[in-house]
Amino acid sequence: MSTHISVPPQMLLERILTLEIVRVTERAAVSAARLRGHGKEKEADQAAVDAMRRELNKLPIEGTVVIGEGERDEAPMLFIGEKVGMNAGPQVDIAVDPLEGTTLCAKNMPGAIATMAMADGGTLLHAPDVYMQKIAVGPGYAKGVVELDASPADNVRRLAKAKGVDAAAITVLVLDRPRHADIIAAIRGTGAAVRLITDGDVAGVIHCADPDNTGVDMYIGTGGAPEGVLAAAALRCIGGQMQCRLILDSEEKRERAHKMGVLDPRMIYGIEDMAKGDCLFAATGVTTGSLLSGVKFRNGVIETETVVMRSVTGTVRYIKAEHRQLEKFHLD
Ligand code: FBP
Repeated sequence: MSTHISVPPQMLLERILTLEIVRVTERAAVSAARLRGHGKEKEADQAAVDAMRRELNKLPIEGTVVIGEGERDEAPMLFIGEKVGMNAGPQVDIAVDPLEGTTLCAKNMPGAIATMAMADGGTLLHAPDVYMQKIAVGPGYAKGVVELDASPADNVRRLAKAKGVDAAAITVLVLDRPRHADIIAAIRGTGAAVRLITDGDVAGVIHCADPDNTGVDMYIGTGGAPEGVLAAAALRCIGGQMQCRLILDSEEKRERAHKMGVLDPRMIYGIEDMAKGDCLFAATGVTTGSLLSGVKFRNGVIETETVVMRSVTGTVRYIKAEHRQLEKFHLD
């Protein structure tokens, strides 16, 4: 049952919770960072999940996890459908990836983050933990400048034309996977450059929104669907275009997706299909990467860096925090 709150729920989601969710990703990042470089992917992920869940349950929300750590029977915490929050406040959808880049964290490589998005209830895509085809570009281009079903070479040429440059001036970010060999060859065939990442396509997509600083114009490839929805929430805040399609290549996956409301298994989702309403997005660095610095453990002080975004205003804040006495208050 909801308790009375004097601030309109919309206001809470839009403003107060913007800073509240920072605490959630900060704590998840600190917990995961304690296991950086230990080669223990599951343990690091579990530490981030535990911390994130603990912090989510302190928020004045009626939250439902719609993108989580798997489905109820296989994931003990933050499973899809799990209720989180103090059961008081606005009804919100929650998408989490407590440790995006588990391998990066386990190997102490750049780019692991703790991330989440929060949106008005019923507005985030409920997606099963399957693969998803994705293409993304930053803001400032006509709608449809690139398209999921156009060939990678065609998309490079279309983007180059829209940007007023040669294909050689375009850089496309791609996950380094054997399944992307043809895409990589096709992009290079146009004269464009490919930047490969070993993991972490949430940050990869976000890079497209700021090509002048990141040097990345476009993201193409197949990655996790949960990561796709999180990236869409981020682009909803900072601008850009994204098209995605769930890969539902078995009856079992189609059934799981159908139960979550996916009626057309071939549907192409734009940003507004994945994040329909107002939303917030936050990510804290676990290991230092091109988006965020990782957690620093100093003498008695823990430092974190978080980016938090809000769709209604397009505000992007980078928050550097110094945490003292996390242990004393059993907060991480
Ligand atoms: P995890 O943190 O769940 O390992 O995800 C890392 C990641 O690189 C994602 O960023 C990406 O969407 C996905 O894995 C790609 O999947 P796969 O590693 O199976 O190719």
